[in-house]
Amino acid sequence: MTEQNQIYKCNVCGNIVEILHAGIGQLVCCKKPMELLKEKTQDVGQEKHVPVIEKTETGIRAKIGSVPHPMEEKHYIEWIEIIADGKFYRKFLKPTDKPEAEFEIKAEKIEVREYCNLHGLWGT
Ligand SMILES: [Fe+2]
Repeated sequence: MTEQNQIYKCNVCGNIVEILHAGIGQLVCCKKPMELLKEKTQDVGQEKHVPVIEKTETGIRAKIGSVPHPMEEKHYIEWIEIIADGKFYRKFLKPTDKPEAEFEIKAEKIEVREYCNLHGLWGT
């Protein structure tokens, strides 16, 4: 049984999917069950992945992380997602971008999720 907004990964081919509508079936890719990714919320070691949220004049900025995360071909933040009062916003990044994203939104409740191509899913 899946739940809306869960993120699953195929550990064979690398496909990543997000659930838009929950169902009772098990997600399978490359003939294997897909892995449910759980957001990690605690940094360990030198690299920082937990998003830091800053207010700007027009909205918010999410930085990854307290020390800027590397943005290299082999290791980078693929996307940053904001969940603001139940609405979802996502920015996809390239290795040449800064590890941050700005969103022109005002909201009471803000959560952030981000995906590092090497270290997986992180959140606030
Ligand atoms: Fe990383």
